[in-house]
Amino acid sequence: MKALLCKEFGMPETLVLEDIEPLKAEAGKVVISVKACSVNFPDTLIIRNLYQFKPALPFSPGGEVSGLVKEVGEGVKHLKVGDKVFAMTGWGGMAEEVLVDARRVFPMLPKMDFVTAASVMYNYGTSYHALKDRAELKSGETLLVLGAAGGVGLAAVELGKLMGAKVIAAASSDEKLAVCKEKGADFTINYLTEDLREQIKTITEGKGVDVIYDAVGDKFAEPALRSIAWKGRYLVVGFAAGEIPKIPLNLALLKGCAIVGVFWGQFAEKEPAQNFKNIQELAGHFMQGRLRPHIHKLYTLEEAAESLNDLMNRKVVGKAVVVTSDEVKMPIYAQLESKQPEVKAETTPVKSQEMLIFKDIEALKGYVGKELGTSEWQILTQDKINAFAAATLDDQWIHVDEEKAKLSPFGKTIAHGFLSLSFSPKFMYEMFKVESAKMGLNYGTNKVRFISPVPVGSRVRMKATLKEVEDMQPSGAKLIIDAVFELEGSEKPACVAELLSVIYE
Ligand SMILES: NC(=O)c1ccc[n+]([C@@H]2O[C@H](COP(=O)([O-])OP(=O)(O)OC[C@H]3O[C@@H](n4cnc5c(N)ncnc54)[C@H](OP(=O)(O)O)[C@@H]3O)[C@@H](O)[C@H]2O)c1
Repeated sequence: MKALLCKEFGMPETLVLEDIEPLKAEAGKVVISVKACSVNFPDTLIIRNLYQFKPALPFSPGGEVSGLVKEVGEGVKHLKVGDKVFAMTGWGGMAEEVLVDARRVFPMLPKMDFVTAASVMYNYGTSYHALKDRAELKSGETLLVLGAAGGVGLAAVELGKLMGAKVIAAASSDEKLAVCKEKGADFTINYLTEDLREQIKTITEGKGVDVIYDAVGDKFAEPALRSIAWKGRYLVVGFAAGEIPKIPLNLALLKGCAIVGVFWGQFAEKEPAQNFKNIQELAGHFMQGRLRPHIHKLYTLEEAAESLNDLMNRKVVGKAVVVTSDEVKMPIYAQLESKQPEVKAETTPVKSQEMLIFKDIEALKGYVGKELGTSEWQILTQDKINAFAAATLDDQWIHVDEEKAKLSPFGKTIAHGFLSLSFSPKFMYEMFKVESAKMGLNYGTNKVRFISPVPVGSRVRMKATLKEVEDMQPSGAKLIIDAVFELEGSEKPACVAELLSVIYE
């Protein structure tokens, strides 16, 4: 089997790809046929002998993998050959096989792909522990993330948003910050070209930030701490920039703030029950499509040293992943993020907007939080209002009596509120389609608010955002769509609603 070997400590260039003997399972351990191995900051330290763990030479870097169980050692009960798994290996992952303690190996979530499975535990485990357990971040608070486009940083942006915080992402380039925005950051600061303190002051209107997530250290730590709000929490997560900052402790006194250490590895070791609870909660968010790692690029084993160099040179946004064969592809949601969804022009009828075509429900999940589009306008003619009145037995004069309605404050008839809403299936058919769907059903609304009256002759259209995609057994999904029914010429919409649909594959 092929393995990228560290035979002497040094920079990524010193690593060599070699054919070595296949691995054998030992008691309490399993051999995994690696499909994907994500690249993490410690990999860049371990090869230079700068990390807290020091494996004997030669070894392969790579601490987080996904793959198939190839061989099970004596005494391992919860895993069997062929299981799809992910694992925290410490090292050894940048190879076709890795031998791992079975306690560090977990079954993959249903429908999760190998690249995603190798990319979530370390980043989201760390950032969730930091924000939830250490900062006790509350909805409505302000969160500043330094190094926001890095692995743990981008996970903190997504999680902060999910937890209801106002998120300020700080990073070194506008391209990186654009990805942070896509992941939900409300504000961005380019800390190489902008003054961090000034920007924080402007964004928070002088109040300061409630929680600071610092995975970078070095020269940004002190100005960030000086910008913390009263009773803020400063999370010490990492020192990616190299220098461990020395903070004047009077700042903690003056701000009444807490400087809080975060060490996810130790937390998982010392508080396994709490860590397991966090992982379960994260799994729920992944299943619901609320969290998605940003995959920077896939590298082959031959290119694995380059992936480490890219991380060290601050070129990676989100997660770099090494894959062991070209069968392991970029997840569909990541393809959508990098391109925009596959769009195919509709031929008939002619539309101003092109339709979004999703391959399957998994692809749709990758689109959660994004706009599905805006429909064509629909005119609310008196004929349509009359037909709706007849169908619903709601023939109040304000809808159907044109003469009497002339004397009303509106000067004309008014469409039923539910008439605009009833166009939602038609509007949705215009916007997107799921190729794998055998059947779809637009069956109702969770919430609806009627905001403006809609006089006869008005034009309405629907703007929609995919809010949630929830798995349904045996093979389907429930969709929740946020819809705004715009009224031409009016700032206020006709109505807003949360629409419910189901799709069966
Ligand atoms: N405490 C814990 O439990 C825990 C857990 C996981 C990770 N960590 C630590 O958190 C830090 C970040 O880890 P990560 O996996 O997110 O790394 P990463 O993906 O490489 O992200 C680090 C970010 O730091 C910024 N940076 C600034 N100066 C840098 C430099 N000289 N070299 C590299 N990056 C630099 C970069 O963003 P810009 O270019 O935008 O500045 C980069 O995106 C590491 O120190 C890691 O050890 C701690």
